[in-house]
Amino acid sequence: MIVQALTPKQQTAIGLSRAHRMAVYEGSVRSSKTITSLLDWLAFVRTAPPGPMLMIGKTERTLERNVIGPLVEMLGRNRCRFVRGAGELHLLGRLIYTAGANDEKAQEKVRGITLVGVYVDEASLLPESFWNMLGTRLSVAGARLIATTNPDSPQHWLKRDYLDRARTHLTRPGAVVPTGGPVDLVRLSFHLDDNITLDPLYRASLDAMYVGLWRRRFIDGDWVAAEGAIFDMLDLNPGGVHRIGWDTVRRQLTGRHWVGLDYGQSNPFHAVLLGTSDDDRLVVCGEWRYDGRTSHRQLDDGEYEARLRGWLDAGADIPLPADAHPGTLAGSVWPERTAVDPSAASFRSMLRNRGWTGLVAADNAVADGIRNVSSLLAARRLLFAHDDQGQPAAPFLERELLGYVWDPKATKRGEDEPLKADDHGPDGLRYGVQVCRSVWRPWLQQGLSLAA
Ligand SMILES: Nc1ncnc2c1ncn2[C@@H]1O[C@H](COP(=O)(O)OP(=O)(O)OP(=O)(O)O)[C@@H](O)[C@H]1O
Ligand SMILES: [Mg+2]
Repeated sequence: MIVQALTPKQQTAIGLSRAHRMAVYEGSVRSSKTITSLLDWLAFVRTAPPGPMLMIGKTERTLERNVIGPLVEMLGRNRCRFVRGAGELHLLGRLIYTAGANDEKAQEKVRGITLVGVYVDEASLLPESFWNMLGTRLSVAGARLIATTNPDSPQHWLKRDYLDRARTHLTRPGAVVPTGGPVDLVRLSFHLDDNITLDPLYRASLDAMYVGLWRRRFIDGDWVAAEGAIFDMLDLNPGGVHRIGWDTVRRQLTGRHWVGLDYGQSNPFHAVLLGTSDDDRLVVCGEWRYDGRTSHRQLDDGEYEARLRGWLDAGADIPLPADAHPGTLAGSVWPERTAVDPSAASFRSMLRNRGWTGLVAADNAVADGIRNVSSLLAARRLLFAHDDQGQPAAPFLERELLGYVWDPKATKRGEDEPLKADDHGPDGLRYGVQVCRSVWRPWLQQGLSLAA
């Protein structure tokens, strides 16, 4: 990678960073936080006092992808060599340790040592205790910490206890404001406009990918709370942008299906059936739901399996095309993958024993799942089928999605968590969407790869 000459604001940021013990580069995605902070870090590594230095990411893997990869690209292998197994980076002739913050062993190692320099990637994703501990390790004169982060909730510990208490702030428009806070820290706020290498097409596709909460955080660069409706972009009104009639989409289905399944015994059991259309959209084709409470009888695992299998084998209530020959039978819509609630291990092993193919434990990274569903909705790549009377293929799911809200208690703690009520359909949808991500990811990246 050839690094282009820095803008005056990027130079100012590096200059301010040098004058503080801690520097946090924060703001929009792709706003040149990493590049600028790495140039800052390199200059520091060249001149830092002797002693151990450390680079931290959320995990070893993300650190390597986000930071070490670009460093090697910038400097070449002679000046920057990463020994993965040992977690050691040889940078400009200096040995630097690397670690993932979520690795307990790494935390143990750091606990005991004095550090002269720390670089932190994605600081808001670190456990708060670990970040605080890093601060206490930087006891030598001239020791520094350089970090990058995307915005999160305004109640997040990093915002509340550090950024809001910074001594100096380089604002988004580039003004240097002596905020005079008690922490020897400079807050460096970046925006997409600060990245002069950004292709306008690429930028437009970023705009299309992020909506709602994520637009405000990752594009605008604001620290905003997760409040109110989670899928506030969802338009399921008659004629709404996320609706599609079977009469249109029925013959476009490719025959590829996935199931996301939220398991419940005293709570509802909810399976969501997804399919793809030949114009590259994900379609909610149906749901199979059973609520032991409203039905006044609980089903056992064997009964669940038999009923769900029967429903899929009989075509999952997807209507036949209007011009189908009389007497045509609906074919099975057996899913390529069935992503099962990760906490329902015994149900999953029962499915396996009964020969259920394509089983996986669902990915339960809630925030990532919600973000992906949002991106698909924003790009109009996730649609909900209905019949010619307007009856949805998945009425319970639709109802729960519209009522799906952020938990205000979690928001107060600075965390993003959906309220755990009537979330069975949304969980099932999330599992289904995550399990077929290799199919839809290229749809969202079309604009991005064109621009790259
Ligand atoms: N001065 C520059 N010279 C060359 N490339 C640059 C420069 N500034 C930014 N870029 C390019 O812009 C892209 C985004 O920059 P960078 O990775 O630093 O952003 P970021 O703010 O860390 O984004 P994210 O939040 O997504 O991690 C990078 O791929 C980088 O190659
Ligand atoms: Mg970055």
